[in-house]
Amino acid sequence: MSSSIFIFGAGGVAREVAWIIDDINKVEPKWDIKGFLVDGKCTTNYIDKIPVINGLNCLKDNQSPKVIIAVGSGAKRAEIASRILSINSETQFPNIIHPSVIKSNLVSFGVGNIIYPNCVITTNVVIGNYNQIHIASVLSHDSIVKDYVTILPGCNISGNVVLNEGCSLGVGSKIIQQKSVGRNSFIGAGAIVINSIPEGVLAVGIPAIIKKKY
Ligand SMILES: CC(C)(COP(=O)(O)OP(=O)(O)OC[C@H]1O[C@@H](n2cnc3c(N)ncnc32)[C@H](O)[C@@H]1OP(=O)(O)O)[C@@H](O)C(=O)NCCC(=O)NCCS
Repeated sequence: MSSSIFIFGAGGVAREVAWIIDDINKVEPKWDIKGFLVDGKCTTNYIDKIPVINGLNCLKDNQSPKVIIAVGSGAKRAEIASRILSINSETQFPNIIHPSVIKSNLVSFGVGNIIYPNCVITTNVVIGNYNQIHIASVLSHDSIVKDYVTILPGCNISGNVVLNEGCSLGVGSKIIQQKSVGRNSFIGAGAIVINSIPEGVLAVGIPAIIKKKY
């Protein structure tokens, strides 16, 4: 039997999540998408044949509604999660994991994570809450992904890496083993991180160097 789910957002990530859910349902009918939930005025009634629902009030009338927050910015995901919980504290945030993802049984997930197709997550990896791991990224043994982290397509994260809250890794970036990326820092597309990166900075290039502080 399938469960109802709302997708928060109506942009690129939200439409990609609808596609991932479609693929999950091809394996086993798990989710019934109620609509793209938007918290502002959206003049379109349907996107890709899925209804657009304006405003979060519909969550009030649901018992334990299920929502996946599908927006690209980690900071926005944090803000939206707390707004949704203030409207209905029983809201649940399931993990949406594409069936093609390869992972061991020793990977743990919190809530509200989106894992895109063709990711590989090896062993003893801890993934917190509301993270996005985009297409074909690799996470190796003993790494930790905290909360609200965004890993853009084709990233390669070696063993024992720590990705702290709200950091983002640009497309195709790589982190060598035992390094960390600080809270809310951004690693530019294509960078190779060979030294740990502190919080709140932009680091770019090969090897990655700090370009600016946010
Ligand atoms: C890092 C990024 C977000 C730009 O951030 P920003 O704060 O706007 O930074 P700016 O564009 O002002 O660039 C600051 C400096 O870093 C350099 N820089 C920015 N991104 C870089 C990159 N990926 N590699 C090398 N240098 C880069 C700029 O050339 C600039 O250098 P300068 O000061 O010597 O002129 C962007 O360049 C990036 O890499 N985005 C990732 C996009 C991505 O992964 N998209 C996937 C979507 S699915």
